[in-house]
Amino acid sequence: MSQNSPFYHLEGLLGEDVMFLNATITESFQNSEALIPQVSRYLIGAGGKRVRPYLALGIGKLFHSASPKRFLQAASLEFLHTATLLHDDVVDHSEQRRKQKSSHLVWGNEAAILVGDFLFAKAFSLMVQLENPAVLALLAYTATAIAEGEIVQLHRAHDLSLSDEEYIAMISGKTSILFRAATETAAMLARQDPSVAQQCGEFGLNLGIAFQLADDVLDYDSDQRTLGKNIGDDFLEGKISAPALYSYRQSNTEIRAFWQRAMSGKRQKGDFERALEILTQQNILPQIQQRALDYAEKAIKALDCAVDSPMKTALTHCARFAASRSY
Ligand code: IPE
Ligand code: IPE
Ligand code: MG
Ligand code: MG
Repeated sequence: MSQNSPFYHLEGLLGEDVMFLNATITESFQNSEALIPQVSRYLIGAGGKRVRPYLALGIGKLFHSASPKRFLQAASLEFLHTATLLHDDVVDHSEQRRKQKSSHLVWGNEAAILVGDFLFAKAFSLMVQLENPAVLALLAYTATAIAEGEIVQLHRAHDLSLSDEEYIAMISGKTSILFRAATETAAMLARQDPSVAQQCGEFGLNLGIAFQLADDVLDYDSDQRTLGKNIGDDFLEGKISAPALYSYRQSNTEIRAFWQRAMSGKRQKGDFERALEILTQQNILPQIQQRALDYAEKAIKALDCAVDSPMKTALTHCARFAASRSY
């Protein structure tokens, strides 16, 4: 992680919480069938940003949580997230993840799916150990919503008529709801009132929407070495994301026909370059970045529920970074 990143700063403020998180993650693979730690270590060891567990631990610290259960909660979030990545790369035919070959290309689709299932199950066994039915209920709802969001994406994959509300609902499902669960359940474990926990959930949800809007932009325009994923995957898959939708809505018949052909899989050489040209002409990516920043500000507003502190400032910076990140 870059030393200028607000998440790096957040990691610093979390201090030894990070060590306890890492220990909880590592312990969870012990005594498993050899392939499980192998594949899990391959992906987890490649070092994701750990955004979800760090936000959860950050909210815990914001409210001076003394509950040791917060490490189980944070680890379970990272497992849920890692499980979705293993499955997502199979579904999206993505070849690179975290600066290395995607797990399914190294171990095969079967292993990636089954180890993903194992991580899902492991996430739930950690959640049960939280011994908090309300937290468990929110996390169980979240897991269902993620799967549903991915299924909506599969079903509407090439549909350029997706409305703005439908698009936001889809990315909320596949991505932002996990951010919401991270921050809301962290506040619940820190024994905050339901209204405060709900505001923390709003913080996570809006930060998560900003995060996915930024992800959609990065898939069209970023430096692959910094991002650690292939650029252009969404376009190649004909996957509807913010750039295609925004451009389609602002286009004349000719450009609409281009997006329709390209998204339906009838692609020709040079199409991605043409798409980038159109996006530049229409100034689409800055519009999406601005939208992401608006969601980040909405997230920050929700943090009014907490008194000012260095942790609150750090979380504020993380929200803006989620919208304007380069990796
Ligand atoms: C990738 O999440 C999937 C999305 C929701 C866009 P991250 O960007 O948090 O992935 P890692 O964990 O840092 O690799
Ligand atoms: C992420 O969506 C959603 C989940 C992993 C559930 P993307 O498909 O855009 O994520 P990346 O770009 O592969 O990381
Ligand atoms: Mg993907
Ligand atoms: Mg993406």
